Amino acid sequence: MVSKRGRIDTFVAKRLQIPKKMVRNLIVSEQIFIDGVQVLSADTQIDEFSLIECQGNVLQQRQRAYWMLHKPKGVVSATIDKQHVTALDLLTGVDRDLLHIAGRLDLNSTGLLLITNDAKWSQKLMAPESKVTKRYLVTLANPIDASYIKAFEQGMWFEYEGITTQPAKLTVLSQHQAMVELKEGKYHQIKRMFGRFQNPVIELHRESVGAICLDDNLDQGKFRALSVSEIHSIYTQTT
Ligand code: URA
Repeated sequence: MVSKRGRIDTFVAKRLQIPKKMVRNLIVSEQIFIDGVQVLSADTQIDEFSLIECQGNVLQQRQRAYWMLHKPKGVVSATIDKQHVTALDLLTGVDRDLLHIAGRLDLNSTGLLLITNDAKWSQKLMAPESKVTKRYLVTLANPIDASYIKAFEQGMWFEYEGITTQPAKLTVLSQHQAMVELKEGKYHQIKRMFGRFQNPVIELHRESVGAICLDDNLDQGKFRALSVSEIHSIYTQTT
């Protein structure tokens, strides 16, 4: 999802289905406002959150929205799907316009899923250079041993992408449970990393993304709005 930036004359012409020449006349006759400020130039830039008014009518008004969902198993991290219930289906009573998922989880993974209509925010969150730490609780079929720690730290060659994974932190919690912290999110990354040890992942649960932790009060399938400090946390820190 990319931020919908563009020119005011293009937007108004499309929205009102009038030629751009007519839009320029509206601008000259002081009829168009962006965020309450009169438009002076046809090439003034807008985005999906600009409040746009023309001749006293609101042409665009949208609030930024940020949600955390406790994703259950069997729910697909997608906006639409023919086969499965989607994460967006669970956001009952919410305006779904432009909503998208910021960092997917596999069908059978559970835990923290972030959903927003703010493409700049989700891009920042997921950009590799942001190096935001994602923390997962992982349950394995076979016993884990200390040799895994070094392998995760050193990185693993992923043939398909042609990359070596970034250093990941593995903490052994018990024979069959580990905490894994990643600063990237390659396709099925954790399953593939444990796959190197022929150790299938039984349960995979995301506990946090950066400073945003899954709320203990959210049962599976439930969601809540992010707080202001959670929203801003992605701009102020990279862990
Ligand atoms: N790694 C995986 O293999 N699956 C997920 O859902 C997240 C990380």
